[in-house]
Amino acid sequence: MTDALAAASAPLAERAGTMAAVSEEIVVLDYGGQYSQLIARRVRDCGVFSELLPHTTALSQIAERKPRGVILSGGPASVYAPGAPRLDRGLLELGVPVMGICYGMQLLMHELGGRVEQAEVGEFGRSELTVAEPGTLLAGMPREQTCWMSHRDTVFAPPPGFTTLASSLSSPVAAVEDVARGIYGIQFHPEVVHTPYGQEILERFLAEICACSQTWSAASIVTEQIRRIREQVGDAKVICGLSGGVDSSVAALLVHRAVGEQLTCVFVDHGLMRKDEGEQVVSAFRDTFNVPLVAVDAESRFLRVLAGVTEPEAKRKAIGAEFIRVFEEEAHKLDAGDGDGPRFLVQGTLYSDVIESGGGTGAATIKSHHNVGGLPDDLSFDLVEPLRALFKDEVRAVGAELGLPDRLVWRQPFPGPGLAIRVVGGEATKERLAVLREADHILQEEIRAAGLYRELWQSFCVLPDVRTVGVQGDERTYGYVVVVRAVTSDDAMTADWARLPYDLLETIASRMINELREVNRVVLDITSKPPGTIEWE
Ligand code: XMP
Repeated sequence: MTDALAAASAPLAERAGTMAAVSEEIVVLDYGGQYSQLIARRVRDCGVFSELLPHTTALSQIAERKPRGVILSGGPASVYAPGAPRLDRGLLELGVPVMGICYGMQLLMHELGGRVEQAEVGEFGRSELTVAEPGTLLAGMPREQTCWMSHRDTVFAPPPGFTTLASSLSSPVAAVEDVARGIYGIQFHPEVVHTPYGQEILERFLAEICACSQTWSAASIVTEQIRRIREQVGDAKVICGLSGGVDSSVAALLVHRAVGEQLTCVFVDHGLMRKDEGEQVVSAFRDTFNVPLVAVDAESRFLRVLAGVTEPEAKRKAIGAEFIRVFEEEAHKLDAGDGDGPRFLVQGTLYSDVIESGGGTGAATIKSHHNVGGLPDDLSFDLVEPLRALFKDEVRAVGAELGLPDRLVWRQPFPGPGLAIRVVGGEATKERLAVLREADHILQEEIRAAGLYRELWQSFCVLPDVRTVGVQGDERTYGYVVVVRAVTSDDAMTADWARLPYDLLETIASRMINELREVNRVVLDITSKPPGTIEWE
């Protein structure tokens, strides 16, 4: 994360439809490969703004962006399959370099008269690459290197005019170029960590071939977004729901930088936050940044709607509905009755949300369960979404740039419905939430003290509605079981259980049992995702 962050102290540009061309951009066309998003990510790591667009994007739309280069991603199809995605030849007439990766390369080779066939055996995973002729793309790279392959179809001969640069055991043509026409191809995946020289190859393509200056940075995101927000909002009032998470915090700060007191933040404290979290948000925004902030203590309202609710979806629904009610009430109060209420609503939508919802230029439909604690589309606000083009670590870089405290910048993801969905199998009562909050606090303290907080995607506790027998000080106890859940992940789509050191686990367990009267047993969840999910509900 740290490297990525350093690299992401690089740049922002503009989204299709919502954003105009930036000075330097690489368009990645998505042919459906599992690593496509990663290509755009790696290009950004090199300080060049990049976005993933569907391979069906109209040529005119691509041309409008004036990209410095185009990368065609991998994909699952065979160029011979009926209905397989085709190449728009016009891409080769844009006058900028084009590089195909895996399927993207096969497509270029096939369309331009090379020989692509299904090999007897596919090539999946680690492979050895031999560079015969470095050319421009592989100049300065070792002759022998490891690379990551994932293909069945193979290029056996390049089209006329192309030079074969490298081969692997199963791929006689693993890298090619035609410098005169500005067309490049690599069969392996430079974007994955298993290709050690991958980033260097991408960087060569960007710097040497596309002549990018690699100056995209967090600072440029800030300046550019402030300008855009001012342009969009004019002198209208803006409202923002702060959740305490990094996305809404950074979005709010950017908007505050842009339009100052026209912005009012609303922080609904539903009483389901982690320990001290509410105070941290209020103190950062109100006291440090002087952002006009309405903090609503709504704990009792939320506990009321949660009374008797045990089923997780029902909890989410109850919390979501109450959240909207509270938020709307507060938004209403900001309207002085002269119709001069907030016209714009700030949302911390990220690029991953946009991609997940199928890209496009409309408002993102965030995964439904992520919408809980969020706001419905039919609120009568226009959206301000300053983070729409950013990945999570870029948002963190912007947060740091804006002076957001480390504690907020690096906060692990936390579900909108908060601790309520971590009391599982039973009602989220005030008493249970308090036990869970204290247990969670101990876990966070110890994880931070061990220096592991940033390495983990999430670390938290779950409180099942289960009691077990124990013995403490000669007395039989009947107490709660606390589950410790700690996972590593890049994107929450998959996750692995974190191998926390035994000594740390022991400290955590004994602190919980000694300090929390209600707890007499601590267990560790060692399920990865899949088959489990990160949260328990
Ligand atoms: P699961 O449990 O599906 O969670 O593996 C994936 C990630 O999503 C987070 N999560 C939420 N985030 N609002 C959010 O903003 C929610 O309602 C919500 N529910 C789950 C979860 O913590 C994990 O990081």
